[in-house]
Amino acid sequence: MKLVFFSETDDPAPWREALRTALPGIDFRVWPDVGDPADVRYTLVWKPPAGWHRRFPALRAILSLGAGVDALLEDPDLPAGVPITRMVDAGMGRQMAEYAAHGVMHFHRRMPEYAALQREGRWQPLECPAATEFPVGVLGLGVLGAQAAQMLVAMGYPVNAWTRTPRTLPGVTCYAGDAGRAAFLAGSRVLVNFLPLTPDTRGLIDRSLLAGLPRGAYLVNLARGGHVVEDDLLAALDDGQLAGAMLDVFGSEPLPVGHRFWRHPRVIVTPHIAAVTMAEGAADQVIENLKRLEAGDTPRGLVDRSRGY
Ligand code: NAP
Ligand code: GLV
Repeated sequence: MKLVFFSETDDPAPWREALRTALPGIDFRVWPDVGDPADVRYTLVWKPPAGWHRRFPALRAILSLGAGVDALLEDPDLPAGVPITRMVDAGMGRQMAEYAAHGVMHFHRRMPEYAALQREGRWQPLECPAATEFPVGVLGLGVLGAQAAQMLVAMGYPVNAWTRTPRTLPGVTCYAGDAGRAAFLAGSRVLVNFLPLTPDTRGLIDRSLLAGLPRGAYLVNLARGGHVVEDDLLAALDDGQLAGAMLDVFGSEPLPVGHRFWRHPRVIVTPHIAAVTMAEGAADQVIENLKRLEAGDTPRGLVDRSRGY
């Protein structure tokens, strides 16, 4: 069974070690050392170039190193009919929940204003609402969003969530679809984005969505940069509709030198680190899926190409 690993950001060594130990028959290759491409049955990838998969005529499945598969699905030359699997949690749920909780508390406890006061050498206590008065809106209540929502509930925040189809989660007020959007937004002081990037969600966080939030709300985006219309976000920050944004993901990554987000006083930038796939927590999932695929069983985290996630 030949598998080709491709990633410009992940070290193949721990993956090779884990997969060779669990699957002694595996021929683990790291791009570009693939040998005969006609023998390749599986790829384990993060953001391969467009058209890259075309060279493997006997491909049985594409295994994504990430939870989000938008970059794969945007490839117009992705082989049709080949199953794609994505990471399901794989240690990222805890990391994403930590990032979201940090962002919410950072804004709730007015840390950006204290940082500005410190720069001026001013000792100035500010009023702060109780957590119960600071409702959080979670966009997307899937594998990762649900864990963050549960952590925020445990921290005492009222939590709203918005999904494509109706969902329930203890302690969370759930809204779905267009019908639920206005009430969800109006009741959220801070919006935390956990949506997959799909044709339906691209550009969703635009002027009209931001205008639906209470004035002076906050945004924490740890899903994808493509969800945000950057000019609309900057305008909302500049006119006070939004009081601050913590951004981990961007339309163009790395965030280009000179981009306004870098120096905006109400924007916090992190370099797509809200959650990283670590082989230690994720290799078992890949091993299990390779076994299932070899046995003709349905793998975990199978992507629905028509839905885009
Ligand atoms: P998931 O389990 O597939 O959950 C997706 C959620 O989004 C579901 O609740 C789904 O609704 C909802 N949704 C999808 N399309 C929607 C639409 N058009 N309108 C409203 N809701 C919609 O995904 P996940 O594993 O939680 O991952 C979420 C995303 O996190 C990934 O796609 C990736 O982009 C991002 N991510 C970022 C990092 C980072 O380091 N920054 C790391 C990992 C992942 P239903 O429940 O109705 O299906
Ligand atoms: C990272 O962004 C992922 O989708 O896993």
